[in-house]
Amino acid sequence: MSALRIILVGLGARAQFWMRVIRENPDCTIVGLIDPSEAARARALEQLPEAKASASLSLIGDLEADAVLLATPPGGREAQMEAAVAARLPILAEKPLADSVELAERYVEMAEAAGVPLMVGLNFRYLPVTQEALRLIDETLGPVEFSRFTYERWRDGRLARLNKYPLTMDQPMLWEQSIHHFDLMRYVLRSEPVEIFAKTFNPSWSMYRDDANVSALITFANGAIVNYQGTWQSNWKMPDFQWRSECARGVIVQNDQFGALNYALHDDDALTAVPLPPYEQWIDDAVALLASFVAALRGSAPLQCTGRDHLNSLRMVQACILSAETGQAIRPTDLAAGAMHKTGQASPSHPDAPSQRKSQ
Ligand SMILES: NC(=O)c1ccc[n+]([C@@H]2O[C@H](COP(=O)([O-])OP(=O)(O)OC[C@H]3O[C@@H](n4cnc5c(N)ncnc54)[C@H](O)[C@@H]3O)[C@@H](O)[C@H]2O)c1
Repeated sequence: MSALRIILVGLGARAQFWMRVIRENPDCTIVGLIDPSEAARARALEQLPEAKASASLSLIGDLEADAVLLATPPGGREAQMEAAVAARLPILAEKPLADSVELAERYVEMAEAAGVPLMVGLNFRYLPVTQEALRLIDETLGPVEFSRFTYERWRDGRLARLNKYPLTMDQPMLWEQSIHHFDLMRYVLRSEPVEIFAKTFNPSWSMYRDDANVSALITFANGAIVNYQGTWQSNWKMPDFQWRSECARGVIVQNDQFGALNYALHDDDALTAVPLPPYEQWIDDAVALLASFVAALRGSAPLQCTGRDHLNSLRMVQACILSAETGQAIRPTDLAAGAMHKTGQASPSHPDAPSQRKSQ
């Protein structure tokens, strides 16, 4: 079977990982490279001299290709989505699909109407630690009733190897980072959120223009409640992560976003570590995600992480923003297309809740 010919759009930080992952996958090859930045194109061409590079999206219609991978910032993808859909090329888009739910809905509808598969790059689902947590729930511990999810990091957004747009975008923590966490919650709990109460804020030392901190209390349709705290501007250079879930027969404790999985049954004196396979961060998860995309395009497996599924995670982001703005709990389902007359008019789930101003 011939290799899947991919056009990579956006040649920044994330694309460096994708170039390696695709190069090492015999089922795939990069035929096109698109980025308005000449320096970014030159750097990519050094690694892939046989590919065609361009500043223009017209390459999408001009090249013989089988798929488009969007590794661009989430804001301003309209023309990219339109070009890929017009060329009838399946799309693998980095998360978040867009920087607004309305735009993401438009993209999903556009792709579905044209019969174009649209997958979102939710690589954390493909980590062995995530798959093992699901297995523990199913086979050992039983369903999660409540959980505490903390992600604390001092993310130096000025580092050369990191993207720069989050420094100035609205709600960078929510759109860029919490979106992964919200997706994981939905995936591992196997349930959809029904109510979110959140506050977002920015500590005095923050290098981000807008809020780098999110605190949220999230209720899921199956009754599970998650207490979430995420920050990109903790005040210690060392990162910390813990996702502890209280299940029917005990607890699951994940102490690292890439691994360190443990569990205990109710009467155990100590946690038991769960063995995980050797693992290269940011690579093996992308390898598995790409394999899943290829399998779907070849018809051997259903498409995972669809754009439509992703809308439910994006609505969690928007619910957090609305909750922080209004001081009220928000039902994410009210944010579905047609459920709201206009953005910001989702009905609060507790109309009598005291009004709180968003703290800056
Ligand atoms: N899944 C993950 O774990 C993960 C990790 C990092 C980043 N990401 C995502 O990857 C995406 C890109 O992030 P990044 O860190 O590479 O950002 P970046 O700023 O480093 O790179 C983005 C690149 O896109 C280019 N670009 C901008 N507009 C373009 C357009 N219209 N057409 C073509 N190219 C355009 C820019 O010139 C830049 O080279 C974002 O959605 C981000 O959230 C995902």
